[in-house]
Amino acid sequence: MPPPDFDIIILGATGYTGTITAEHITSNFPSTFSWAIAGRSLSRLHKLSAHLQTIRSDRSPPTILQSSLDREDLHALVKRTKVVMNVVGPYNRYSEPVLEACASEGTHYVDFSTETPWIASMIPRYHEMAKKSGAIMIPAASNSSSPPDLLAWLIASKIRETTGRGTKEIVASGQLNMAGMGGGSAHTVLDVVQRYGIGWMWKPDPFCMVPRPQRPATPYRSPIGYQKHEDLGILTTNLPGISNMAIVNRSAALHPEIYGADFTYTELAPAPNAPVAIFTHMLLKLVILLLAFPPFRFLVRSLSYEPGSGPAWHEMGKKESVMIDAVGVSEDGKTKAKGRFAWKGAVAHVSAILVAEAAGVLVGWREKGEGERAGGGMVTPSKLGEELVERLRGAGCLFEVEVLGD
Ligand SMILES: NC(=O)c1ccc[n+]([C@@H]2O[C@H](COP(=O)([O-])OP(=O)(O)OC[C@H]3O[C@@H](n4cnc5c(N)ncnc54)[C@H](OP(=O)(O)O)[C@@H]3O)[C@@H](O)[C@H]2O)c1
Repeated sequence: MPPPDFDIIILGATGYTGTITAEHITSNFPSTFSWAIAGRSLSRLHKLSAHLQTIRSDRSPPTILQSSLDREDLHALVKRTKVVMNVVGPYNRYSEPVLEACASEGTHYVDFSTETPWIASMIPRYHEMAKKSGAIMIPAASNSSSPPDLLAWLIASKIRETTGRGTKEIVASGQLNMAGMGGGSAHTVLDVVQRYGIGWMWKPDPFCMVPRPQRPATPYRSPIGYQKHEDLGILTTNLPGISNMAIVNRSAALHPEIYGADFTYTELAPAPNAPVAIFTHMLLKLVILLLAFPPFRFLVRSLSYEPGSGPAWHEMGKKESVMIDAVGVSEDGKTKAKGRFAWKGAVAHVSAILVAEAAGVLVGWREKGEGERAGGGMVTPSKLGEELVERLRGAGCLFEVEVLGD
């Protein structure tokens, strides 16, 4: 087989998130890096290319590739690259053919999906196929769910390294401060509810991406949302936790030699006191319930940005941040490790960084033949381990982990 023409192809580069990701690559990746932007509209691809030239006129712009989402086009496209970064959403609507092409052609894959029921339904279809072809496929590599997944991996690895034991449980307290959302993301949330209903959000299954025989006991969940943790304080229900718990528990199921056999991950949000914790929980439940009603979805859709647009991320960066604190306990209950992820800036920006840097790691692995050693499959962001953590630290993300003592 001839070597691929490109390191990375961004499919769906013309959208709000694809553009921010292409800006990150233009500004930060070496000029020797060979990449292409792909999509259905030639005129929008040319417009993006011209925009990228205004950011750095000293480097050649990416190659432009027009492609539909037809099987033939996609197979031809993914054969030309080491890694596909897929930004075509809603994923449940459009992206299964992209997964199929990468899994069967052995092309590494990363995406921004948060569509938990869709990801769970794709795993039985493409995990084995990707294992056979050697494609490392990482959905949910953006802000949902790389930070909690990498943080949990750091904590479990620290406990393993210090005690030789697995981790019984990690509890995380995640705070996502967002001042706005891109139209593509808002419309995707509504689209997922329309297709899958609200059951997966109302009563989340943190083990929906884990093979049945490996399911440990369901972790404690408070029916009123109030929970007190001895290290993290008062906690309440957390919406991003629904997707994050499924991904982190999958990481543990794929790597029991790090996490332990009966590991569980729970993600909640901090609250200043019990009444606020209970109120936040009730409010979230109300919003989830309202999403079941088409008129409410119509209202949210009409108040959102159109797909393809979103708030100016540089402006959002002044108001937004992400912070996750997490504590893990060893299997024998004697050792604790604490970790933190922090990002100060636009959530759309860190999402782009997380996925672009994950793709960067996969390019290196493909060149060094590391991917073959690591093995393919539908895996999780923490598969990329320390190498991804280091790249993200270099791009402005904080990751810390320490043992609290015996
Ligand atoms: N979890 C997270 O943290 C996170 C963060 C950011 C984004 N996301 C997800 O990423 C996805 C993209 O977000 P976005 O903000 O970039 O959305 P967007 O602005 O609407 O962009 C969507 C992209 O998909 C392409 N596309 C849409 N329908 C297509 C079709 N039928 N055939 C071919 N291409 C098609 C669009 O092409 P055209 O330009 O030609 O229309 C565009 O390039 C969404 O599903 C969103 O939920 C998740």
